[in-house]
Amino acid sequence: MKNFNADGRHQHPTLPQRLELERRGFLRLLGLGASVTAIASFTGCSFFGPREAVVTVGQVDFRNPLRIPPVAQPVRRDGQIVFDLAMQAGTTPLVAAGDTDTWGINGSILGPTLRAGRGDHVLVNVRNELGEATTLHWHGMHLPAIADGGPHQMIAPGAEQASSWKVDQPAATLWYHPHPHGQTEKHVYRGLGGMFIVDDDDEAALDLPHAYGVDDVPIIVQDKTFDASGQFLETERYDTGMLGDTILVNGTIAPVFEITTERTRLRLLNASTARSYGFGFSDGREFMMIASDGGLLAAPIRLTRIQLTPGERAEIILDAAAGETVALRSYPQALGLSDRQALDSGADDELDILLFRVAAELGASSEIPVRLAEIEPLEVAAVAATRQFDLQSFQINGQLMDMNRIDTVVTVDTTEIWEVRNGHGTPHNFHIHDVQFQVVDIDGRRPAAELAGWKDTVYLPPQATLRLIMRFGKHSDPAVPYMYHCHMLWHEDVGMMGQFVVVEPGRDIAPLDGSHHG
Ligand code: C2O
Ligand code: CU
Ligand code: CU
Repeated sequence: MKNFNADGRHQHPTLPQRLELERRGFLRLLGLGASVTAIASFTGCSFFGPREAVVTVGQVDFRNPLRIPPVAQPVRRDGQIVFDLAMQAGTTPLVAAGDTDTWGINGSILGPTLRAGRGDHVLVNVRNELGEATTLHWHGMHLPAIADGGPHQMIAPGAEQASSWKVDQPAATLWYHPHPHGQTEKHVYRGLGGMFIVDDDDEAALDLPHAYGVDDVPIIVQDKTFDASGQFLETERYDTGMLGDTILVNGTIAPVFEITTERTRLRLLNASTARSYGFGFSDGREFMMIASDGGLLAAPIRLTRIQLTPGERAEIILDAAAGETVALRSYPQALGLSDRQALDSGADDELDILLFRVAAELGASSEIPVRLAEIEPLEVAAVAATRQFDLQSFQINGQLMDMNRIDTVVTVDTTEIWEVRNGHGTPHNFHIHDVQFQVVDIDGRRPAAELAGWKDTVYLPPQATLRLIMRFGKHSDPAVPYMYHCHMLWHEDVGMMGQFVVVEPGRDIAPLDGSHHG
């Protein structure tokens, strides 16, 4: 089904060579003022020919118990809850061809699930045992810029970094992953990442499924390609980046999960570097969506499909009948693309993800409440600034990411509207650090119900303009920026990222990294 085989890679340049070629080709094209189509065509097709759809539906031999990442047990010290994390290289048995070299946190692949309550003071010690510099970023978390784990908070090999903040946001499924500029795709692909669950009293009072690993289950979905010796193949990049033909859930290949209760809460996290998923169940059944990136929706919604682009999360409730089996799959998605681009970005792929085997006797589950949360719409009338972000090729507002340039200065404790436009034929998405936003409209129309809650990452269909509204809460720092970027990690690495600082009223930005600017 693929248009290349495992051996075919030997004819191709190595990854670093290719990335360099691609970068150089890209910069040359920019210099020539190349058209969008010329840039799009070099990102894959001109090198490798058109891609073919990957279809694995009905072909995955589900056989391995779904691995449940352990919940990290923090120690309590001086009023803080303290997590000790070590980023390390290891090997993981995944395929028969051989153990795979992988990277993980406190283990060989992925990391523990961190859990903290609203109001908790968290301290995370991250030790880098990888042999190369990296960072650990807290995706979706409202925190001081210095604790954000972005590209300015590098952890040298052998070094340890401590970050602390007070958790101050609603219950949500957040996550963490490396963010070294230019290397994020590789570090995530090799296995670094994990879930961070925020709890609060309002959510606890709702009686939603809450037994971790039993009826409240992390589902971290990633696509990989294996080479003939069982190693992760850093494979061809098409428009959005690398698209694997093999799905891992929580680092488990061909996973099976045994359901033991009438209702199961699935915390879906798309931790893939490039692939978007159109999740649904093999019999087309409805499920309830209860939460988006930043926490619970106002009310549950009934869906048969949920689309998640890289970095996005959703919590859904699966109703099961005793004795049945049902598979979670990814179905072809309407990403608003041309036929060629749909193919090249994996939107036509149809994938088996995870099999649920339901026990003969099920524990009772409570009804899902009809109201879940209060979500006050942020007031459009009250915005302090409206800004435009135009995504074209690998640039935002005509510029590639520059670590020494602050692109945007925001005043602390104000509300802004960001008008984000994908002026490109290629799919992108948009993620903003530090805040959760609301989608005001998409090309002037109200967004679908799935997008009505708190979001930190959102899909940008080609040629669409999204208006996002957000409040920049209490953390300010004139010298340390947060990031906004496309979360297709190859795009981010190549430079589709910008930096903003949050400052006190009337303050200007302070010099970054010793260099002076605007
Ligand atoms: Cu999930 Cu800037 O990252
Ligand atoms: Cu982030
Ligand atoms: Cu992108």
